[in-house]
Amino acid sequence: MKQQTWRVNYQVFEAPKELPKSDRLLLKHAKKALKHSWSPYSNFKVGAAVLLKNGKIIEGSNQENAAYPMCLCAERTAFAAAASQFPKSAVTTIAITVKNPEMVIESPAAPCGACRQVICETESKYKQLIRVILRGEKGPIYIFETGRDLLPFGFDASFL
Ligand code: THU
Repeated sequence: MKQQTWRVNYQVFEAPKELPKSDRLLLKHAKKALKHSWSPYSNFKVGAAVLLKNGKIIEGSNQENAAYPMCLCAERTAFAAAASQFPKSAVTTIAITVKNPEMVIESPAAPCGACRQVICETESKYKQLIRVILRGEKGPIYIFETGRDLLPFGFDASFL
């Protein structure tokens, strides 16, 4: 037996003002997207914004449904909108933020497993790593250089 370790590098910024301008802007768009969240069942709002290689920014928000399993996550809404409008343009960065009216979330929002899988699929599709910017409603910002850092041992086309 040998012991192996998976190491993840990520950057921690204390506040948006420390971020490069383009990351700050993308996070602002993710925050703006919270307004369009349809989340009457969970009351939990998620906003996402993706930056494309062509410079466009596409926003997404969670869209819930009375039939709960049909709920769409903000991240996947943003990826689907981007791929539908600009299918040829790779995604380079995604910013994700959240708002819970019951409490202020002060740690970076964690995308669900399904969204991590879609981030990785989009990286494979365009052969382009996607930077992932996470923030709660307040507090520090985490930046990962690739979705793979959030999905160790992910399933991809290499198994098929
Ligand atoms: N949600 C997202 O939009 N993205 C995630 O990565 C995690 C969860 C949404 C789904 C649902 O509308 C609400 O947050 C509570 O789970």
